Amino acid sequence: MERIPEEELMNDAAQARSYAEADFEEPHKRVPELFAECFKGIELRGKVLDLGCGPGDVTFRFASCFPNSEILAIDGAAEMIRLAQKRQAAEPEAGNITFMEGIIPAALIPPARYEAIISSSFLHHLHEPQVLWQTIKRAAREGTIIFVIDLLRPDTKKDASGLVELYCGTEPEILKRDFYNSLLAAFTQEEVRAQLKEAGLMELNVKAVSDRHQIIYGIKK
Ligand SMILES: C[S@@+](CC[C@H](N)C(=O)[O-])C[C@H]1O[C@@H](n2cnc3c(N)ncnc32)[C@H](O)[C@@H]1O
Repeated sequence: MERIPEEELMNDAAQARSYAEADFEEPHKRVPELFAECFKGIELRGKVLDLGCGPGDVTFRFASCFPNSEILAIDGAAEMIRLAQKRQAAEPEAGNITFMEGIIPAALIPPARYEAIISSSFLHHLHEPQVLWQTIKRAAREGTIIFVIDLLRPDTKKDASGLVELYCGTEPEILKRDFYNSLLAAFTQEEVRAQLKEAGLMELNVKAVSDRHQIIYGIKK
């Protein structure tokens, strides 16, 4: 099935709210676990950049796993940043996180020695995937840990509908619609490998980790 891109920003208030309120406990709990499996024994203590953070659920989970890290989390949707900051105000102990509104690649990412760059479910939103890889290349230094998790495009629309029913069957319609559109907009592992080759990020590994997720990870050379 050909890729069908979706809207980049999730700025619609109802859409952002339903995403922020969705039950992502199972897939989001896995994100820092997968990070720990890829980078055994690593304790993040420095600056971390989170690209396309949305309402911050994955960001908060990283902050809780790595309490000594300092996370800069960026999203282009004002509504998502508002929801992330609202949650932060309600959970002041949630860690050292700065949420910043900014459309990537135009956003002015402060130059710093980022120990890690993470990104969850952002790549498939981009109409031009090099936006993510080139942003990572610009922000990373030698030794920066890179960890991206994203959806995998199914073979057919019928398979996509099946995944929506399996994992989102009881969620509101708006969330089911977004998940379906996201699956159609996602990249295959082969496409991601070609993107990394084009970007000159061949040190990164691409691995499927579930029937709908892939991770792209490694250490910047
Ligand atoms: C599916 S959400 C993922 C949010 C979060 N990382 C997570 O895993 O739950 C994708 C996010 O990427 C943001 N986004 C899409 N294109 C963007 C761009 N060009 N610059 C910044 N943010 C963008 C959207 O606004 C949305 O909040």
